[in-house]
Amino acid sequence: MEFVTYEVKDRVGIITISREKALNALNSQVLDELGEAFDAVDLNEIRCIVLTGAGEKSFVAGADIGEMSSLTKAEGEAFGKKGNDLFRKIETFPIPVIAAVNGFALGGGCEISMSCDIRICSENAVFGQPEVGLGITPGFGGTQRLARLVSPGMAKQLIYTARNIKADEAYRIGLVNKVVKAEVNEAGEVTVSAKDALMAEALKMAAGIASNAPIAVRNCKKAINDGLAVDMDKAIVIEEKLFGDCFETEDQKAGMANFLEKDKEKKLKVVPFANK
Ligand code: CAA
Repeated sequence: MEFVTYEVKDRVGIITISREKALNALNSQVLDELGEAFDAVDLNEIRCIVLTGAGEKSFVAGADIGEMSSLTKAEGEAFGKKGNDLFRKIETFPIPVIAAVNGFALGGGCEISMSCDIRICSENAVFGQPEVGLGITPGFGGTQRLARLVSPGMAKQLIYTARNIKADEAYRIGLVNKVVKAEVNEAGEVTVSAKDALMAEALKMAAGIASNAPIAVRNCKKAINDGLAVDMDKAIVIEEKLFGDCFETEDQKAGMANFLEKDKEKKLKVVPFANK
């Protein structure tokens, strides 16, 4: 692949959008390659994904404006579907996906981060939906996910004004879970860059998720996602089914036996999802 790299650290997969010359903007090829990267994740081994952008400056500076500039109505709709299909794949991916947002997350960049389960960002991150300034609406789920993640009023304000916000404001409105700062020594010199500190934090969070029972974590993701799409009476039934689904698994037996034996050191057994 030309614009996407994939590496594995223990049980965590790291997918990096790597088109630095265009600030990792999403053209059709990047979207296709991202889809291929997610399809290639070995779900019997990997328990959490970290999604990031190459370099210090930009996570993703949006959909590719050059590619979009000459689209017809029908082609515009098809391009929106292409992004939406990929982002829905990420949102419903069986294991958690953490967006490690290093710098600009604008338009499609903000939107892809919102399709992930958790967003953490570097202190230089900038979020925004600048589309109305380009004569279009957000087209990769921004009108829907921003309104659900923050509030309809705040989403409308950000989208109608096309105002970019910095990391601290993104944290304050609940768009990101955590802001990671560069490490600085007493002389004021940067010892760990904001990007390195961000990746260390993202990988630490991912490793923590990966150390928990894999079927339980997947069922939690599904319960939260599916439950939010329906009313509470239906949602609690979804939870009951996924709760019940955990019983009789090796993880449930081992996890509870470890507690009852007061053996906190024992690690949960690995149960490949495909074999559950
Ligand atoms: N598409 C295509 N190319 C892009 C791009 C994008 N979204 N964002 C940046 N680039 C390219 C620039 O054209 C430039 O390329 P050249 O060196 O070949 O000229 C290169 O990346 C570096 O960008 P800048 O020189 O502009 O860098 P800067 O530091 O001066 O500014 C920036 C950075 C503020 C992020 C600015 O690049 C910018 O405003 N980018 C566009 C952001 C945007 O509007 N995103 C939304 C796109 S629409 C969308 O995403 C629709 C949707 O919902 C699906």
